[in-house]
Amino acid sequence: MLGEAFAAAVDVIPRPSLCELRDGRLSVAGGMAIRAEASLRETGRLLADALEKVTQRPWSVATLSDETRPNGDIVLRKTAASAELGDEGYRLDVTADGVTIEASTPAGAFYGCQTLRQLFAPVADPPKAHSKTAWTIPCIHIVDRPRFAWRGMMLDSARHFQDKATVERYIDLLACYKMNRLHWHLTDDQGWRVEIKKYPRLTEVGAWRPNRNAELNRLPGGADERYGGFYTQDDLREIVAYAAARNVTIVPEIEMPGHCLAMLAAYPELSCTGGSFTLGKTWIYQDVCCAGNDRVFEFLDDVLTEVAGLFPSPWIHVGGDECPKNRWRQCPKCHARIQREGLRDESELQSYFIRRMAKIVEAKGRRLIGWDEILEGGLAPSATVQSWRGTSGGLAAARAGHDVIMSPGSHCYLDHSYQALTTKKSYSYEPIPPQLEPDRASHVLGIEGCMWLGNVSKRYLLRTGQVLPTAGIDVQVFPRLLALAEVGWSPKDNRDWADFKGRVREQARQLELRGVSVARDVTVWDDPTEPK
Ligand code: ACM
Ligand code: ZN
Repeated sequence: MLGEAFAAAVDVIPRPSLCELRDGRLSVAGGMAIRAEASLRETGRLLADALEKVTQRPWSVATLSDETRPNGDIVLRKTAASAELGDEGYRLDVTADGVTIEASTPAGAFYGCQTLRQLFAPVADPPKAHSKTAWTIPCIHIVDRPRFAWRGMMLDSARHFQDKATVERYIDLLACYKMNRLHWHLTDDQGWRVEIKKYPRLTEVGAWRPNRNAELNRLPGGADERYGGFYTQDDLREIVAYAAARNVTIVPEIEMPGHCLAMLAAYPELSCTGGSFTLGKTWIYQDVCCAGNDRVFEFLDDVLTEVAGLFPSPWIHVGGDECPKNRWRQCPKCHARIQREGLRDESELQSYFIRRMAKIVEAKGRRLIGWDEILEGGLAPSATVQSWRGTSGGLAAARAGHDVIMSPGSHCYLDHSYQALTTKKSYSYEPIPPQLEPDRASHVLGIEGCMWLGNVSKRYLLRTGQVLPTAGIDVQVFPRLLALAEVGWSPKDNRDWADFKGRVREQARQLELRGVSVARDVTVWDDPTEPK
């Protein structure tokens, strides 16, 4: 009986701010028309695509021309801006006659559509389009808006390259759970993934490692294979547009002054020693950008000019984490810089480096983001700090008036094992540190789950002898990302682990029907520490 497929009718994640189940159900026998105001047609088309996949019947999209509507339609309508809905909120009403989604922005309308899409829970064997069986969803009234403006996931495409379709698949999955930032880790010691026209060796040399096994794990064989890949500028423009249509801003990360061996392999003159270098095989390399060489800043300025042209994001992430200072200590140019600028030591040289980059980023009309190391030694006030070594960096940064993104490894690192980071622990995360003075709380923009691929791909390779497929990334991300999605979106008082656990079951089922692998971990499905 089809109706049973919808028993868990309001298993929506993230949990809406206000959600009232009403009597009755809307019954969809044939295909339906989506009627969208002209400015929301693209959103309507995306909804039609999604619902066609779920219901296996055709959906048409028409422009909403007047206030009347025939039975059974979905209406997407613009409403006046209001504090109630904010920039990304929506109202969703399902009655026995049809569906209305109202929002003051395309983002809000898109999120109303994501809620509706989850209400149309997929079934393994949908009734055929010509069958008499109706597709039904519950009558419901929802008013919803996010708690935080920044709801992100970081994807590491430097340690391990994902093709364009895989990246777009993750954008879809993020958007489905109302996440709006893809922080894209595009460069590191192990690979440079973004085509830069002015410096072609960055991808000719920096995108390829000699051998996947030897590189990660020093396994024998296939030393003549090269492993890697990069995104052409055309690819990037397409991915950015794909994300924008789904209210996802892609925040590119170009790592500096450390974590940049792939860049140095391509252009060794940017290092302190002159090289030569090969791409990374393990972790943390001593060779970093020479902070004493003005050519390094010109080079990075050129790179960021192209990056800013490709990514309209208001923010550019420059990494800034884990930069060893040993080469700087030995380098005459770095010494001269320390002298000339009156810096105390190499730690202040790192601060000088990031401050100079902040000026370069700001000259392009963007704002700099860096990992919490960038706080050390002072920082441009407009810089945003991403707290990863616990929450103290985020707390200090917010107190100092910086915007912050919270992604402490303890709760947000999706590459950690489930033993180390249970879904319940991610779900328990409160992004506003309790010690933070209330007048500083608005500096906490939100949260990010970080999907690093170094350790995960190494663990996977050790276990299987194979390079990580998408399914291996999926099980790290899901279900923990659902927990973080709710932390980022839902009102604090609406969060309830037991209730969430029930909804995760339904979402896992929906995800698996979409071909997503979900970890069936005891911490979600049968938590041994929970009272029954
Ligand atoms: C980091 O995990 N090194 C930011
Ligand atoms: Zn140097």
